[in-house]
Amino acid sequence: MSYAKGGKQIEKLIINGGKQLNGEVVVDKAKNSILPILASTLLCPERCIIHNNPDYTDIRNMCHILADLGAGVIVDGDNLIIDNSTTTKYFIAPDLAKVIRSSIFALGALLGRFGKARVSYPGGCDIGLRPIDLHLKGLRDLGVDIQESHGLINCDASRIHGGEVYLDYPSVGATENLIMASTVGKKRKTIIHNAAKEPEIEDLQNFINAMGGKVKGAGTSTITIESVDQLHGTIFTPIADRIIAGTYLIAGAMTGGEISVVGCEPYLLQALIDKLIKSSCKVDTKGDKIILRASGKRKCFGFVETLPYPGFPTDLQAQILTMATICRGNSVIRENLFEARYKYVPELIKMGANVVVRDRTAFVSGVRELQGASVYASDLRGGVALVLAGLVARGYTTVNDIWHIDRGYRHIEQTLSELGADIQRI
Ligand code: EPZ
Repeated sequence: MSYAKGGKQIEKLIINGGKQLNGEVVVDKAKNSILPILASTLLCPERCIIHNNPDYTDIRNMCHILADLGAGVIVDGDNLIIDNSTTTKYFIAPDLAKVIRSSIFALGALLGRFGKARVSYPGGCDIGLRPIDLHLKGLRDLGVDIQESHGLINCDASRIHGGEVYLDYPSVGATENLIMASTVGKKRKTIIHNAAKEPEIEDLQNFINAMGGKVKGAGTSTITIESVDQLHGTIFTPIADRIIAGTYLIAGAMTGGEISVVGCEPYLLQALIDKLIKSSCKVDTKGDKIILRASGKRKCFGFVETLPYPGFPTDLQAQILTMATICRGNSVIRENLFEARYKYVPELIKMGANVVVRDRTAFVSGVRELQGASVYASDLRGGVALVLAGLVARGYTTVNDIWHIDRGYRHIEQTLSELGADIQRI
């Protein structure tokens, strides 16, 4: 991995568009499952092993934070070995918190382990302000004393108690933080209402219970946690990344090929599969394999809006919009979760897409084809959308600032090349 001065990577992807993609992809494990799971290892003073670590840069950054807190972190091939028996710090350095927003997930775990925590505001990111008011309100409802000053959040959980917490919005991160803050310590029962139902929360529940925790109800709106005195080490294999699976299915739909993704339970992608079928793709499922056969027609799916799970995932919004740019007819996409999640659209317009964005709604008129261009990734999923556009554009597309993409996809160019794309990282 090569870095220019200032730490930003100068690597880019060069794509010669127009190749049909065919083949099978074994889906890597879920970034948004492993990140909270890594945070929850702080609750456990023994060694935990996570199998099939996909080594995305977001995961490396989270490991840096754990190591900075004193944990032993070893990457042993595909296994991530985390030992928090040596963890002593409860203060996350601001410069580390800034690098990865999900450091905020460590807050609940630090409170559970040490009864106190000092973290800095993770700050906004490429797709929006990313407030943490729901995290803090929930913790205060459980008796955590939180003082905010100079950008730092000082938390004291010495008087934490159980009880019922109601989330005004089913926030994924807030749900995960409240689970981790309630998992160990003095005997108490905590019930979270209007909890997020994302599959990654169920994975976190399974990991915590594998360590000896008592969490139940994840995947529903009501999650109950009974605290335990201490957790023990465990070995765990996370679920597949449904967003990566969906991304490759859309790549198959756009290039007109036949793509199978293996390892991701089809029910996790029901909302996307529905739109792919509406776009005249043929989708079959067999166990944990989803097989997509695109047709030449590329009918547009009409309307889609992003919603909390099981609604259409916001992390696939950029990818499905990009597919719409080459579908015959008009599509409307509404982004309900993040206020700045269309930054990739001007780059698509550079490639000849016909998209108009008003506030959180995008209006797309399909064009016959896109043209290759030099474009810039501005965030993880928007960056991947530009790669998808390059796969079908006429001529060469250069996607710059691909460090955004490496945050959540492991060697994307290798996987796409194996499927028949003409793509290289330089
Ligand atoms: C998680 O972010 C994911 N990240 C995001 O994936 C994903 O897009 C998001 O959930 C929604 O599914 C990880 O799991 C690491 P939220 P999170 O709290 O927890 C508002 C990717 O590309 N909100 O459910 O931050 C917030 O502004 C990333 O992999 C508050 O107002 O999502 C947003 O509008 C991007 N106050 C909405 O809720 C709060 O305290 C959803 O946020 C918290 C959130």
